[in-house]
Amino acid sequence: MEIRKIRFTRHTNETGSLAFLESVRDIPFSIKRVYYIFDVAKGAHRGFHAHKKLQQVLICIRGSCKALVDDGVELNDPTEGLYVGNAVWREMFEFSSGAVLLVLASEYFDESDYIRDYKEFLSYVREGGK
Ligand code: TYD
Repeated sequence: MEIRKIRFTRHTNETGSLAFLESVRDIPFSIKRVYYIFDVAKGAHRGFHAHKKLQQVLICIRGSCKALVDDGVELNDPTEGLYVGNAVWREMFEFSSGAVLLVLASEYFDESDYIRDYKEFLSYVREGGK
């Protein structure tokens, strides 16, 4: 199980800010897919799954939210990403109003890569799935 924060380069001047990231150089995989979560209902939780193979980087590009990957990591900085390796159970919650959570993914969408049942996830990890 691997989780770590990644800091992106930021350029700020009097007209505004820009942050950038490059596949493989800043992100520890080749990005195959990008999606984003927005308009999250107040108090709603998202996620509740792990992935067999997929790795992701979560970036809250506007507002803030929390990701429960081990003990609840706050994401509130658009120049910071949270790398979530495979075989990590995740939940996202406490989305601030207007928050947008951008996700960079190492794989194309594949429903068979999801483990949506927590008990099944525990046995997957116990049986050495990584
Ligand atoms: P899901 O991953 O369950 O959302 P969350 O983890 O944020 O609660 O995805 C919701 C639905 O969208 C589900 O039916 C699968 C579909 N989906 C795609 O078709 N492609 C994608 O890239 C993603 C992330 C989801």
